Amino acid sequence: MVKRPYIVGNWKMNGTRAMLTEARAINRAAERLVKVEVALAPPFTLIQPICKEAGLIGVGAQDCHAAEGGAHTGDVSASMLKDAGAGFVIVGHSERRADHNESDADVKAKAEAALAAGLFTIVCVGETETERDAGQAEAVVARQLEGSLPHGANAPEKVTVAYEPVWAIGTGRTPTVDDVSAMHNAIRAKLGEVYGEDGAEIRILYGGSVKPDNAAELLRADNVGGALVGGASLSAESFVGIIVAAAEIAES
Ligand code: 13P
Repeated sequence: MVKRPYIVGNWKMNGTRAMLTEARAINRAAERLVKVEVALAPPFTLIQPICKEAGLIGVGAQDCHAAEGGAHTGDVSASMLKDAGAGFVIVGHSERRADHNESDADVKAKAEAALAAGLFTIVCVGETETERDAGQAEAVVARQLEGSLPHGANAPEKVTVAYEPVWAIGTGRTPTVDDVSAMHNAIRAKLGEVYGEDGAEIRILYGGSVKPDNAAELLRADNVGGALVGGASLSAESFVGIIVAAAEIAES
């Protein structure tokens, strides 16, 4: 566990302005639980209002286009996100890799566009159940990291990695703590290969069915610097439960 755990809520394609009540409640908890860095990645439509109403937490997007602008109907560039108030963007989430056929090269281009626009980025990786059953989990994740991590000046300072096993997302199933430790140690080693010494400082989040009642044990696994939370971030009650668990670990 790093000194200041990073707990990020990914709202996915959920949330209208009615959800601002939850964002405000999360913001109040963040004010109290200063040992934890808290952030939300709402849909694009809520970035500005959450920045306005929940000023103590980080606000980011769930995707960006790799290009700066142009004829890409329906897409949003990193600089537009920055202009809307976002501080970071998640790239390479498995739902985007699956739904939009995003390759590692696409993810890398998006991450580099984010950095060029002055955003931080959370690069997601994770194996499918078939890949894990075939004993390929670490090899798959290593390949994703090699292909997806951004390069360029100061990249390591702006990058967070999220390890999200695809089979753990939204299923209520999680890897064992030993499996999380093994994977996060392998990711740490790969970050050293890619970024040299700077790789040691990069935060590695775990994501996939993190809830208030399993957060503490997952956050205590080796090289886990925080959590990327889907379903349980949609209500302040459960998300704050996870933030509280992280704060308790940060204090101990
Ligand atoms: P769940 O927490 O709903 O499993 O989602 C995890 C996730 O995909 C976060 O990006």
